[in-house]
Amino acid sequence: MGMTRAAYWDGEAASYDRSTAFFEKRLFAEARAWIADRVEGNTLEVGSGTGANLPYYASRATDVTLADVSGEMLAAASARARDLGVTPRTLHGDGAHLDLPDDAFDTMICTFIMCCVEDERAVLRELARVLKPGGRLLMADHVESSTRLGRSVQWVLDVFTPKKAAEHHRRRPILLLPEAGLRVTETTASRWRLVERVAATKPETPGTAATDPAA
Ligand SMILES: C[S@@+](CC[C@H](N)C(=O)[O-])C[C@H]1O[C@@H](n2cnc3c(N)ncnc32)[C@H](O)[C@@H]1O
Repeated sequence: MGMTRAAYWDGEAASYDRSTAFFEKRLFAEARAWIADRVEGNTLEVGSGTGANLPYYASRATDVTLADVSGEMLAAASARARDLGVTPRTLHGDGAHLDLPDDAFDTMICTFIMCCVEDERAVLRELARVLKPGGRLLMADHVESSTRLGRSVQWVLDVFTPKKAAEHHRRRPILLLPEAGLRVTETTASRWRLVERVAATKPETPGTAATDPAA
């Protein structure tokens, strides 16, 4: 992850909540509530952005660590956490290389970031490494639609999205979880599969991540 990408997100931090407000209400809020219902124990959120998930889950986590490649995003999320009475630990860096020990977290949250990371596989492997055996990864993303019309619009969006945004509209990170060593336990999606929500666990015995039942 070069500086350019971090600088791009730094530049988005101040306007992010405003520019996503339309989708927040219609698509994202429901996914955040679904995720928050499943949060327990010490929790790491990777790509926390401005902290839009925090109002949903802050009271359910025993402690919160926020990681983001953008310092500006991290500052916005930390301010939001403090308003909610939480003092988070923060980690400024790339989700593919977290300066954290193995098997450290009960819950990991990752929303709307797999669409913009450089290497999805590397980030998922890193999340699996720092998740405790038996712990849960909770993920939501806008993904490749299940409808032909949806996929056509997404193809056009992929072509016209400015390179610096590095936004991908047709990924499906759920399909990569088994190779990262994680087993999908629950999944559900919004209409036309625009937003897909996933809960996955790190098996207590390594190598038992069964093939994704939802694939
Ligand atoms: C589309 S925003 C989503 C923010 C937030 N998770 C949400 O649900 O509103 C993507 C966030 O991921 C961060 N990000 C992008 N690539 C990253 C990476 N490789 N490692 C960590 N954070 C990353 C960006 O800085 C930005 O805050």
